[in-house]
Amino acid sequence: MMTVESKAEVGVDTHGGEGMPGRAGFDRIAARYDRWYEKPVNRFIDRLEERSLESLLPQGHAGSLLLDVGFGTGHSLPLAGKAGYRVIGLDKSGGMLRVAASKDSLGVPLVQGDAHYLPFPDSCFDAVLSVTAFEFLEEPRQALEEMVRCLRPGGSLVIGVLNAFSYLGLQRKILRKPIFREAHFFRVGELRRMLSRIGEVRVDTCAFMPPWEWLLPAGERLERVGKALAPGLGQFIVAAVTKPAVGVKE
Ligand SMILES: C[S@@+](CC[C@H](N)C(=O)[O-])C[C@H]1O[C@@H](n2cnc3c(N)ncnc32)[C@H](O)[C@@H]1O
Repeated sequence: MMTVESKAEVGVDTHGGEGMPGRAGFDRIAARYDRWYEKPVNRFIDRLEERSLESLLPQGHAGSLLLDVGFGTGHSLPLAGKAGYRVIGLDKSGGMLRVAASKDSLGVPLVQGDAHYLPFPDSCFDAVLSVTAFEFLEEPRQALEEMVRCLRPGGSLVIGVLNAFSYLGLQRKILRKPIFREAHFFRVGELRRMLSRIGEVRVDTCAFMPPWEWLLPAGERLERVGKALAPGLGQFIVAAVTKPAVGVKE
């Protein structure tokens, strides 16, 4: 997991063209995607994001199955594994999945597919996770319906997105970097509203520090201050909801 914005700084030169960045966009950056984690400040931000996701992803039990939508190069896999899930990774980009598959430690089933039309039966997953992928979906609501359809009643949906109302969100909107040109960054209330028709939404925000190396020594302190004083400004938003036993609100 990471803030998608920051990955553009790796030097990726993709052109989203009309509409959302297509498969070609992520195919083209796939080989360079993981380089973002080489910088200590980015690794720090990534750890904060991971902590936030961990706090809202319930612990699985033996045999629990989690679908990671927008699996990318598999960065969320250790997190899901630590929480006790067996994982299936789905992504639209063959390039991203090839990078994931080249990692020796991976060993999970990978499916090339579209979040809007999940190729799985109803109610077959105990949890669905999606990290920095919703920003790139043409129809997030349709994808959400698909995720809920595939989730068993009582199962958890956990979504991590970049906050439009944060340093990185605003910076990318202004700079309009190629792959993010058409990406949609979310506000806390917007994500909460989108999920509230499923059930009670739990939200956490994190990564208050801009990705400036010189701020790193103060990172944990800034995180505590940000959470206490301006939770809506964290760069990364995590929202979780549990699928009810019967139906979702219309
Ligand atoms: C910024 S990457 C995030 C990857 C990974 N979750 C992570 O945290 O590093 C976004 C991923 O979403 C995938 N994606 C975009 N649109 C998609 C769609 N319609 N269906 C499935 N995956 C999609 C992209 O191919 C890309 O791998």
